[in-house]
This record gives sequence, C-alpha cells and structure tokens, in this order.
Amino acid sequence: MKKKVLFGYIIAAIVMMLAFEYSFWTNGFRYLEHQSEHSYLVQTELLRDLFLEGEVAGRNTEEENTFEEFTDTYAEEYDIRITVIDEAGNVLGESRGAGDLMNNHLDREEVQKALKGESNSVIRRSDTFDVDYCYCAVPVADGDFRGVIRTAIPLQELRNMNHEFVRSTVFAVLILAALILFLGLYFRKYVLAMKKVESMRREFVSNVTHELKTPLTSIRGFVETLKAGAIEDPKIANKFLDIIEIESDRLSNLISDTLLLSEIESKKETRREPCDVNEVITEVVDLLQPKVKEHVRLIFHPDASVRPYSCNRDRLKQLLINLVDNGLKATEFGAVTVSCRSTASQLVLEVSDTGIGMEEGQLDRIFERFYRVDKGRSKAQGGTGLGLSIVKHIVELYNGTIEVTSKPGVGTEFTVKLPY
Ligand SMILES: Nc1ncnc2c1ncn2[C@@H]1O[C@H](COP(=O)(O)OP(=O)(O)O)[C@@H](O)[C@H]1O
Ligand SMILES: [Mg+2]
Repeated sequence: MKKKVLFGYIIAAIVMMLAFEYSFWTNGFRYLEHQSEHSYLVQTELLRDLFLEGEVAGRNTEEENTFEEFTDTYAEEYDIRITVIDEAGNVLGESRGAGDLMNNHLDREEVQKALKGESNSVIRRSDTFDVDYCYCAVPVADGDFRGVIRTAIPLQELRNMNHEFVRSTVFAVLILAALILFLGLYFRKYVLAMKKVESMRREFVSNVTHELKTPLTSIRGFVETLKAGAIEDPKIANKFLDIIEIESDRLSNLISDTLLLSEIESKKETRREPCDVNEVITEVVDLLQPKVKEHVRLIFHPDASVRPYSCNRDRLKQLLINLVDNGLKATEFGAVTVSCRSTASQLVLEVSDTGIGMEEGQLDRIFERFYRVDKGRSKAQGGTGLGLSIVKHIVELYNGTIEVTSKPGVGTEFTVKLPY
C-alpha cells in the first residue's frame, strides 16, 4: 500500500515536471520567435540602406538587372531569400534558386502593408517551398523607383533547435525521475533495515532485563527467608547461601557476557598480534580443568605445524573457552577433544564432545542470543545463552565460518575456520 502511494507521488511529480517543461518551452519558443522576427526586420531595413547606398534602382538598365545582382549578392552573404518588388507587385529581382521570379506578389499580405509605407513582418507557409518562413517587407523609394524589399528566412532551424531543447530536457527529466525513484527505493530499504536493527536492539534489551531480573528476584527471596529466621538453622542457611552465590555468579556472567557482546559488535578489531594457537588452547584447557567431570577427559594434542594466527589473543581465547565450556557442560561420560591445524589459507579449530548432542532442528538456532535447547539445564549450569552468539561474532570479526554437526546421545562437533 505504502509502495503504491510512493509510486503515485513519483508519477504525479514526473507528469507535473513534464507539463511544466512543455509550457516553459512553448512560451519560451514563442518569445524566441518574436525576438527573431524583430531582428529579421531590422536586418531587412539594413538591406534597404545598402540598396539605397548602392543606387541599385538608378543603375538598372535593359542590359543589366542590378536588382537581381543585389538580391544574389546579399542573399548569399546573409543566407536568406531576398526579393525586390515594384509598386505593381512585379518581382524585379529574386535571389537565386527561389524560382518564382515571374509571379506577381501584390496579393502577399506583407507586400501590401509595405506598399502602404509600413515595415512589417509575418510568419506563414511559403507557396513556393513547403516550409514556414518569416517574411519581412520594407518600403523603398529611390528617385522614380517605388517598391518593396522583402526577405524570407526559413524557421525550420529555429524550430529544430526548439525540438532539440524539448527532447533533451524531457530526457533530463526522465533521468531525474529514475534517479528519484532509485533514491526512494534505496531510502525505503535503508529505513526498513534501520527499523529491523532497532527492533532487534529493543528485543535484546528486554531479554537482558528479563534475564537480570530472574536471579535478582531469587537472591532477594532467599535473603528475606534467611532474615525471617532460616539463618538460625545452619544447614538450611548454608544451602540458601549456596543458591545466593550461584545466582550472583549468574548475574555476573550475564553482565560480563552482555558487555563482551556489545564490545565485539560495536568495535572493529584493530589490535592484532601473532598468536601461538597451541599455547592459547593449552591455557584454555588448563583454565577449564576444574570443570571437567569425573568420567570425562579433556583432550588436546598440540600440533607443532600450526602457524601463528594474527588476531586479538583475548578474543581467540574467549571463542575457545565458550566452545569447550559448552562441551564440558553437555558431557557426562567420554571426552571433550580440542584440535587445531593449519591449511594453506586457514586456521581450523575443532571442538568435539561425546555429550547429549542436539536435534537437527536446533542447530540453526543455537547461535541466537539467549537461545538454549534446555533452558532449565543451561541455567542450572550457570549459562547465559550468550556463549555461542559471542563465538559467532568473533568468527565473523575475522571473516571466518563456523559449522556444527550433532546427534542426540552421541555428541557434538563444532568446526571453526579462520582465514589467515
Ligand atoms: N556441545 C554442546 N552439546 C549440546 N548442546 C549444546 C552444545 N553447545 C551448545 N549447546 C546448546 O546450545 C545452547 C546455547 O549455547 P550457549 O550460547 O553457549 O549458551 P549457554 O549459556 O546455555 O551455554 C545451550 O544452551 C545448549 O542447549
Ligand atoms: Mg555456553
């Protein structure tokens, strides 16, 4: 619906612009024609002066047609048709090629007016040539001679010029319209993208608020129960304090994950240093050792052929912590294995486990913020639902890719490929 309104506006604007163009050029052309007509008449009067100065009428004899000589000379010079007509309308001289030398011109409107003493001009179609001419006629009197000097200038060139102007401006208007249309569509797309970002941001804020509120409510509840008397029983008091500690950890995790996520999102990574990948993984394995359950092994065999990777060391470490932490949380028996290798152009990191695994349908969603397959289980283990979202952002920061394969009850494998 909105699109239709937009198109409607654009089409109305184009039609208006074209109408304006048309009226501007028709009026403009009328003015131009009028101006030209005036200057043609002035030119004709100048010709009369030349006629008088040259004493053309006085020099005309049986042997020599000086009228014809005059018309030919100046017609060529000024590139117009010139005719000398006597009182009776007879054509005495006509510039070459005109062809109607013998016609009597008394019936011509401009000739009649000039014979009455009025210099004048008129635009009409030529009887001889089928084109529009501007005819200018001025009276001339020299000794015994009385007559008219008439010029005829074809208007085709002027009109062609006008058509050319109209054509080029219509073309310009159409290009402008296309540009407006393109900008309109681009702007619309931009606004839609902005709206999407805004709604995502709002959703994120509301999710974070909700996630923060839950542990806070729980902490406050247990504190109140303790104050109400539960503190007297050391066994119950200890249990409640343990819960308060876990909830506080959750709060702290949530805050640091949120901060980390917004930091990765908003800043373009500039600080890069060559990192020894084996060393980083070893640090991660050591760090998470306390979280390894009784029947699980955390395995890593360093690969000496792996080339150092240029990145922010903390980010690479965070990526690995999040993946290994997930593997450890999901696994009760078996192993969580980390491996790394270098190909010609990529650093390949793999984290696999023999844990609970996931259904095929979950795999697309686990990278979304706050998405957990089993919310209760994730929360019980202090998860925030932001871990994989952070991993994905770090991978994107380095223009890499992340893939996951999983089978319920068998295990999960994450493969990260980062270009060197
Ligand atoms: N190795 C894994 N095995 C099974 N499920 C996993 C694994 N890694 C992630 N998941 C699932 O993906 C969800 C999102 O992971 P993550 O973003 O790290 O959040 P959480 O804070 O819950 O760990 C987890 O809650 C879990 O359900
Ligand atoms: Mg996690």
